[in-house]
Amino acid sequence: MSTAETLARALTRARDRTLALVDFDDTELHRQYDPLMSPLVWDLAHIGQQEELWLLRDGNPARPGLLAADVEGLYDAFTHSRASRVSLPLLAPDEARKYCATVRSKVFDALEGLPDEDGFEFALVLSHEHQHDETMLQALNLRTGAPLLGPGASLPAGRPGLAGTSVLVPAGEFVLGVDATGDFAEPFALDNERPAHRVDVPAFRIGRVPVTNREWREFIDDGGYRHPTWWTERGWEHAVAAGLTAPQFWNPDHTSRIRFGRNEDLLDDEPVQHVSYFEAQAYARWAGARLPTEIEWEKACAWDPATGVRRRYPWGSREPTAELANLGGAALRPAPVGAYPAGASAFRVEQMLGDVWEWTSSPLRPWPGFAPMIYQRYSQPFFGGDYRVLRGGSWAVAGEILRPSFRNWDHPYRRQIFAGVRLAWDV
Ligand SMILES: [Fe+2]
Repeated sequence: MSTAETLARALTRARDRTLALVDFDDTELHRQYDPLMSPLVWDLAHIGQQEELWLLRDGNPARPGLLAADVEGLYDAFTHSRASRVSLPLLAPDEARKYCATVRSKVFDALEGLPDEDGFEFALVLSHEHQHDETMLQALNLRTGAPLLGPGASLPAGRPGLAGTSVLVPAGEFVLGVDATGDFAEPFALDNERPAHRVDVPAFRIGRVPVTNREWREFIDDGGYRHPTWWTERGWEHAVAAGLTAPQFWNPDHTSRIRFGRNEDLLDDEPVQHVSYFEAQAYARWAGARLPTEIEWEKACAWDPATGVRRRYPWGSREPTAELANLGGAALRPAPVGAYPAGASAFRVEQMLGDVWEWTSSPLRPWPGFAPMIYQRYSQPFFGGDYRVLRGGSWAVAGEILRPSFRNWDHPYRRQIFAGVRLAWDV
């Protein structure tokens, strides 16, 4: 299959997913579930607007487009905060759907005859759409009222005995990041994942699986949220001010939770979700551990020490499947630890891709030699800000946009994201 055909199919899969997430009545789509999130109808039209800008107008907003300039301006994420979007005169859901469809048909025309070595901008737009699908899932998870979504697709069973165990990653160099071409080619990797470069990493241990709900409950029962001992000064200040007592969406009994509007038992062996960086840091200290740096995380995920080769995926070169990782969003939750033995990395670390985003201790910085891509404001404005990097993707991330080098970031106090924790230790 040509690159153009592959991209066309992937764009269609992304659009099917988007349309399923907005298949609700107009009132629903205009609702703001939480000031942290946009109304779903904003995300929908914004997906089309970004696609039009990058693929039909060369990224130049001065070039006339399908929308009047003042309407297009409503979908500029840098101008309008999420909290304010509900009060904007947004396109109605039907207009937004029609606009997205018009853009898409022109994009398919532009895709035809695309040389195989091109396609980066199309992949960028594909990634953008899937990233918004995950954001819309965050919004739907914050929604109150009778559930709109089903309970989620079934997942493989876990394996006992893995929680709390770790593996050694010996000291040594590895290749961090990827390039457009060459030995470490990931042509569709985003700007902040590049360039590939060798980094020497001291030995460390890393958790074989993410921290589970059962383990987190022990932290709570031991007074984890009541004593400042385990927290940084800033983390504790935040925990007190925000009144934190457990992960978001946990009920006060700590044995059940609300997930997409459903009240259900918390599964002991499921990775904990909806914890902030501050909580992750406190938990790690309580457990006698720390959070991994993003460099350690990537080495444990992608490096094969036996061959000295960087793998495309933790398990090798095969594209992700349902036997290898929990991705794509259908499950609506993480899988129990040990569910993906075939997805283990060369260091035998499991569930690095999918399930939960994993907080790292690293602030967001460019790799040496960073050069911004056509969407210049994707990464650059966020370097050096009050963010921590998250790695590995959650159950809500599409497998086709995820790589071991993929970097996500958020404020250290955020927890509506599908984020959990993997521990690390000095050796
Ligand atoms: Fe966006």
